[in-house]
Amino acid sequence: MAIRQMRYSGDPILRKKCKYVDDVNDKIRRILDDMMDTLHETENGAAMAANQVGILKRLVVIDYLDNYLKLVNPEIIEQTGEQSCIEGCLSFPGRYVRTIRPQSVTVRALDENGSEIIVTGEGDMAKCFCHELEHLDGIVFLDNAVEEIEISADDE
Ligand code: NI
Repeated sequence: MAIRQMRYSGDPILRKKCKYVDDVNDKIRRILDDMMDTLHETENGAAMAANQVGILKRLVVIDYLDNYLKLVNPEIIEQTGEQSCIEGCLSFPGRYVRTIRPQSVTVRALDENGSEIIVTGEGDMAKCFCHELEHLDGIVFLDNAVEEIEISADDE
């Protein structure tokens, strides 16, 4: 188990495009494990992209609702509908914005063994997929904000 250093607002790596993974090997599996450990160390973290811990590879881990996923080279292959969301991000503590996201998102990725998986998320899970996959292209949730939301510490 290894906890990686989280990267926060203002760190240029959050704006970098992550690179495709050619080979899902032990090194990649170790990074995914470390990302999951780091996610579990956070207070309310649902998911994390690799550049949030300083690694420019297309890797995402999710432990949210009924989904426990380690995704390599994930991409959205289908999206339908629309929903209004409230979004936050581990790299931007205390900030919340309203966004408009698809209601349903289908993602294709490789799992930690290099096998292709296809997974569909609805509602909050669809929001989560969109948010995390955008991180891999250097896009953060604030870029999609339609309004800033004030949430007091009591509500969190
Ligand atoms: Ni985020």
